[in-house]
Order: sequence, then C-alpha cells, then structure tokens
Amino acid sequence: MPGKFENKRVVIAGGSTGIGFTTAKLLQEAGAEVIVTGRSAEKLQQAKAALPRITVAVVDSNNRPELEQFFQSTGKIDHLVLALSGGKGAGAFASLPLDDLRTGFEGKFWPQLNTLQAAIPHLHTSGSITLITAASAAMHQPGVAGLAAINGSLELMIPSIAKELQPLRVNAVSPGVVDTPWWDSMSAAEKAAAFEHFAAQTLTGRIAQPEEIADAVVFLMGNGNTTGTVIRCDGGLSL
Ligand SMILES: NC(=O)c1ccc[n+]([C@@H]2O[C@H](COP(=O)([O-])OP(=O)(O)OC[C@H]3O[C@@H](n4cnc5c(N)ncnc54)[C@H](OP(=O)(O)O)[C@@H]3O)[C@@H](O)[C@H]2O)c1
Repeated sequence: MPGKFENKRVVIAGGSTGIGFTTAKLLQEAGAEVIVTGRSAEKLQQAKAALPRITVAVVDSNNRPELEQFFQSTGKIDHLVLALSGGKGAGAFASLPLDDLRTGFEGKFWPQLNTLQAAIPHLHTSGSITLITAASAAMHQPGVAGLAAINGSLELMIPSIAKELQPLRVNAVSPGVVDTPWWDSMSAAEKAAAFEHFAAQTLTGRIAQPEEIADAVVFLMGNGNTTGTVIRCDGGLSL
C-alpha cells in the first residue's frame, strides 16, 4: 500500500537549512516530491547535494511577483510548509528599537503570509498548510514581547484561515529552542551560553534537535483530522 506522502508534491518555503531542510529529508524518505525554496543559491545547492532528489528554487518570500511566478511553475501542490525565519525583535520592551521589531516582522510574519496567500490557488483542498511559529508566542517572559507579537500574530490567524480554506487544513508547530543554523549569527561562546540558559528553562532540560520539530510538522501534514491548531513542540519552554 502506498504511504500517505507517496508522490505527493510538497513545497517547503525556507527549506535549505534547519527545520525546513530536516522536514524535506523526512518527506523525501516517505516518497514525497519535495520542492525547497530559499534566497541563497549556495545554501540551496548544499541542500540539493545532501538530498539529491529534491528540487530547489531561489525564491524570496518577501517578493510577491517572484512567489507568483514560482507557484505557476510548480503546478498543483498537496502540502505547503512555511519554515521561513526572521531573527530580530527580541529584547526588553522598554529599550527595544522598534525598527528591530519591524525588521523581525519583515523577516518572518510577512514572508510567511505572502507565501501562504500566493500558494492558495495552487493547493489541492485535500492537502495542508503548516506554519512554524515559536514558543515566544506563549512564553509570558521578559524580553520576548516583540517575538511574541510576530509569532502570536501568526498563531492567532490560523483558526480563521483554516475555516476560510476548509477542507484544506491549516496548522502550526511552535518550537522552543532548536539547534539549527538560525543561531549561527552568534559566536560559539554566545551560542553555548544561550543554549545553556534556555536548556535550564526547558522542562526537558535540553535544546531540541530539528528532527523533533520536523516530526511534528510531518504529523500535522499527514493527520487528516487535524486543522486550525498549534502544536507546542517546545520541551515545555512556554509553560
Ligand atoms: N531554531 C530555533 O531555535 C527556533 C525556535 C523557534 C522557532 N523557530 C522557527 O523555526 C523556523 C525555521 O527556523 P530554523 O531554525 O530552521 O532557521 P534556519 O536554519 O535559519 O532556516 C531558515 C530558512 O528560511 C529561509 N529563508 C529566510 N527568509 C527567507 C525569505 N525571505 N525567502 C525565502 N527563504 C527564506 C532560509 O534560507 P535563506 O536565508 O537562504 O533565504 C532558510 O532556508 C523559523 O520560522 C524560526 O523562526 C526556530
């Protein structure tokens, strides 16, 4: 019997590294036809070298005409995963430069919505859309108000979009801290200190691996009875 992803066409926006890349790997192993996007051709070529059967495409998810052209080229797709990342927007609110928060929205909120909206006419209604948000949306901790705004805004939209697009399913996975290239802008010492700090705040006592988040994404894609929901795959960081 063919598996549920056999010959299904999946687009992973922001799939050249990290959680998106690992999701591509799991889906390719499950028989899906996987198309991965990102801005850097070099990172996409590295992804292709590691997973030769994926298709890669340079697409900036902040560029709507580029997105429209891309989805014209893919034909109908079964599943869409939005793993696009931002980065800016963390810090104590009283001193948070609001331009940083604006940049944070430009890096994650707008590219995810741009891609989602551009993909809608090209998605089979039997398929799914899965966003990657973040534990900051639910952490209620100092220093995360800006990130909570970005990720919380995405999470708040999910039930409504799911109702609009039914029977197409729309969900999100909300990770805590995950060991991916997202942290590479820090020095090794800064990254180690950040990981130690967040591991101590996480109920599981450790930083997650991208496979654990990808596993939750694949569950949401494959479970035909789940829509309009956010899975907190954060090791308890948000509690
Ligand atoms: N890692 C964590 O600790 C953590 C925690 C909570 C939530 N998350 C969320 O998980 C998701 C995946 O993050 P990750 O850790 O896997 O980060 P990552 O390794 O940096 O991957 C991000 C991917 O998105 C692509 N991307 C970014 N902006 C893009 C744009 N405008 N257009 C097209 N592609 C774009 C990147 O490639 P290019 O740069 O080449 O475009 C890359 O493929 C993000 O939404 C992030 O906020 C991560």
